[in-house]
Amino acid sequence: MARFSLFVAALGVSVASAQAVISAQGCTSRSFTTPSWFVSDLAAVDGKASFSVLNRATNQTAGYECLGGSCEGEEGIEDLVVVVEVDGAVASVSVNQTWVCGDRSPQTKFIAAGTSTVSVVDGKAASSPLLVKGSLIQPVALTPQYNEGPTGHDTPGCLAKSEKPSWVLSHVIWADQDGDEITSVKEQRLTFILTNAATGYEASCMSQGPVATNIFCAGTEFQSFTIGRYSISTAVQFDPATYSLTVNQTWFCDDHDAAKPLQISASGTLPLPLECQTEPIPSSPRHLKKFCTVPNDDSSISLSGSLGTVVTLPPYSIEDPVPSNTDSCTVSSIYNPRWQFSYFSTYNNSISFEIILQTNRGFRYPNPVYQGKARGDGWFDCEIGYDGGSQVPDGPLWPYRCQFKWDGEGKVLELRAEWECTELDPGNPVRFSGVSTTTVNSNIVCEKVEHREYTDEPLGEGEELTVPDPVGVVDFCYTENPSYTWTGEIKEVTWTSGKRV
Ligand SMILES: *[C@@H]1O[C@H](CO)[C@@H](O)[C@H](O)[C@H]1NC(C)=O
Ligand SMILES: *[C@@H]1O[C@H](CO)[C@@H](O)[C@H](O)[C@H]1NC(C)=O
Ligand SMILES: *[C@@H]1O[C@H](CO)[C@@H](O)[C@H](O)[C@H]1NC(C)=O
Ligand SMILES: *[C@@H]1O[C@H](CO)[C@@H](O)[C@H](O)[C@H]1NC(C)=O
Repeated sequence: MARFSLFVAALGVSVASAQAVISAQGCTSRSFTTPSWFVSDLAAVDGKASFSVLNRATNQTAGYECLGGSCEGEEGIEDLVVVVEVDGAVASVSVNQTWVCGDRSPQTKFIAAGTSTVSVVDGKAASSPLLVKGSLIQPVALTPQYNEGPTGHDTPGCLAKSEKPSWVLSHVIWADQDGDEITSVKEQRLTFILTNAATGYEASCMSQGPVATNIFCAGTEFQSFTIGRYSISTAVQFDPATYSLTVNQTWFCDDHDAAKPLQISASGTLPLPLECQTEPIPSSPRHLKKFCTVPNDDSSISLSGSLGTVVTLPPYSIEDPVPSNTDSCTVSSIYNPRWQFSYFSTYNNSISFEIILQTNRGFRYPNPVYQGKARGDGWFDCEIGYDGGSQVPDGPLWPYRCQFKWDGEGKVLELRAEWECTELDPGNPVRFSGVSTTTVNSNIVCEKVEHREYTDEPLGEGEELTVPDPVGVVDFCYTENPSYTWTGEIKEVTWTSGKRV
């Protein structure tokens, strides 16, 4: 098979001009989260080729016709280079583009590049559009991460097996107790594990209460931060009188073609073949309790269902980053960097406050900073307090290193800080530095408090926690309104990416 390459370099179309609307989902934001291209309708036969390109950050699109080695578009995209190489039944598409987004200030130049391959059948790409994921080169080098998507969506055979939906129910237990409500309670409990044959997705299902009809099922989606926008959902109904159980589940497959992900719903019903033992409740012998299982090794049974609705989702949407309505850590740090401060206090002239970056916070709360070693000229090292956000996957939103200076007369707090943002590329965080000068615009009130020294030593056996005797009296000062918060603009911001040093 001939191996040939096509080369595109188009110039002459102006880039997006400044827009008045600032959107967390605009060109700038998308350039950080999805610097990538869709290459559609790629065809290549006998030295001729055609395709169209969409830049997913700018939404610019252009179609190209190629003859020999060079391609032309009616309205080409500026600073775009596409190289298509066809080798046998595989086409490799490389894209490298420079673009400018003007929806945020300062307007920013982005450079990104990426390569993707697709199989070619009868001179046409087998999948369209083809997603070419880019790595950002400018303004900062990083490769945005994509989501994992819901369990099993790309398991080979996902779609094929979904055509005849089936599940395995295992570890089935049904307990039904008829209590007198004095010494024993009326209680029904159904538990089992539900495994979808197409995806391998496992959900733990249970119901507990006086009547078990609506069964709650949950899988790994509750622990994962990388599911993306779609999540598997399961609804189960049970009839305690007939043991009839209905499963209704929605899952996702894109193993056949990530450009055409499917959302699949199916349901199935069966009477649980339960075998039960009934015995009187010891404390109340006129009432009975029943305990049932499916009589085989792991108490399992298979359930076949019928296909409900099947919906085609937008191309590659299963693993795509989910756009947010608020700016991420990186975008905030570059375009509108501000600290939010709170809980300012001094204890025997030693300063402390709480701090968090003003951005999309998720589950993170301000973190305390205490006065550390003196650096001279009135500057002190920050001692970063409890790291309440270290377990959150997209990282803490406070400095990992800082120094501050406090002018008690003018109530001015100066801060030099270094922080990082990990939400785009956790392996390659963007590390920032900047300075801020803010005024604590609140009355600061002081009181004398007795100072006691507590030890960190663990209590011995039988030892009780005792309050040590005071060893002196110190000044404790704080903002008059204890929940007073204020913000400080961060200036002279610099950034780079890579591992923290
Ligand atoms: C991208 O362009 C298409 C067609 O011109 C338009 O329908 C769509 O709304 C645009 N998307 C964004 C995010 O601007
Ligand atoms: C993409 O283009 C830029 C500038 O034109 C260049 O510096 C960079 O090396 C290119 N990257 C790749 C991966 O081709
Ligand atoms: C299953 O759930 C889907 C989506 O929630 C719903 O549209 C459908 O009607 C349900 N089917 C049954 C049999 O309950
Ligand atoms: C208060 O600070 C002073 C000066 O730094 C220090 O000498 C003193 O020991 C401190 N008092 C207490 C009770 O910690």
